[in-house]
Amino acid sequence: MSILVTGGAGYIGSHTCVELLNAGNEIIVLDNLSNSKPEALDRIKEITGKDFEFYQADLLNKNELMTIFSENKIDAVIHFAGLKAVGESVSIPLHYYHNNITGTLILCEVMEKFGVYNLVFSSSATVYGLQQCVPLHEELPTGATNPYGRTKLMIEEILRDVHVANNKWSIALLRYFNPVGAHSSGRIGEDPNGIPNNLVPYITQVTVGKLPKLKVFGNDYPTEDGTGVRDYIHVVDLAAGHLMALEKVMDSQGVNAYNLGTGIGYSVLEMIDAFERASGNSIPYEIIDRRPGDIGVSYADSSKAKQELNWVAQKGIDDMCRDSWRWQINNPNGYEKDQVKRKISVT
Ligand code: NAD
Ligand code: WQD
Repeated sequence: MSILVTGGAGYIGSHTCVELLNAGNEIIVLDNLSNSKPEALDRIKEITGKDFEFYQADLLNKNELMTIFSENKIDAVIHFAGLKAVGESVSIPLHYYHNNITGTLILCEVMEKFGVYNLVFSSSATVYGLQQCVPLHEELPTGATNPYGRTKLMIEEILRDVHVANNKWSIALLRYFNPVGAHSSGRIGEDPNGIPNNLVPYITQVTVGKLPKLKVFGNDYPTEDGTGVRDYIHVVDLAAGHLMALEKVMDSQGVNAYNLGTGIGYSVLEMIDAFERASGNSIPYEIIDRRPGDIGVSYADSSKAKQELNWVAQKGIDDMCRDSWRWQINNPNGYEKDQVKRKISVT
């Protein structure tokens, strides 16, 4: 099968590209590299020993998309490309709405033009909003608390409308919980710009000495130790979920939302503990106030993905921490080391 992967140079996209290639698929990667580095693409090739076409292109540029679809035979699209920083989305909402929503509209228009109706979309558990009723299942009412979350919610709705208008569409809306971890090779992983917003990359940077200490956002939630509880999911399990969703999309029609999580929640303090075990280092932290907009507890009911996609997360918290740690110590500055090498070899 030949799959267009938008955002394929990014964190989840790069891991999914590895799994797609290992399963014998052809891929075409589209990314504008606004939040990723070309080295990730070199490393996908290195891990898999396989080559693929890369277009440094922007979803907002319809002509570029038209070129990609006319130069390649595409059976399905996995659509990761989007901006994802919650805080930034509050500061520059128009940019988020334009990039994520307009980008998806243009992608769907071009797909229709070329008769490609199979789509796997990166949604998020953020579409459950402030829902208190855990485990979170797909039938719960949705909501959003910030512009980023609203882009995911609006795109889900748009994709449902697109299918109502033309029932050739077959779409999986994958609602990821908290993706963490890295490929076991230690060659690809999460490479946030600047100071990380998310817990695990923050912990890894504290552990490696790049940041002085972790700030734990609140210990007065109604959880066992008072800190926030989340459903952390290994990025390689998540990548595997995309292959299962793709299979489903290829032999059915309609729009289906699936939670991709482990079904197990861990608190911030439990994550610190697991990371100390994995790294052999102690992690300094202080408790500060709650982060505005955070919920206390979030974990998935993933039984629909199990029943309909035959997908179950295989990896546990120790795998997640070990693999995140391996990626961090092998690449203390993310993909930056390779860029320095490149510059040197050019001069
Ligand atoms: P990422 O930023 O690492 O990857 C997204 C990629 O999309 C980047 O490489 C970026 O350069 C590219 N991109 C952005 N806008 C583009 C555009 N207009 N045209 C072309 N390329 C563009 O993020 P990720 O963590 O891999 O997330 C992938 C998807 O999953 C995103 O849609 C994100 O919202 C969603 N998601 C992520 C998480 C998470 O915590 N990482 C959780 C739930 C959902
Ligand atoms: C996890 C827990 C924090 C950082 C976010 C987005 C969501 C989705 C995934 C894309 C919480 C606590 C965190 C820190 C801390 N992204 N924490 N100190 O908030 O569940 O989800 O990323 O769709 O939309 O909102 O993930 O990793 O930021 O936080 O104490 O420095 O760690 O309060 O309990 P979150 P997170």
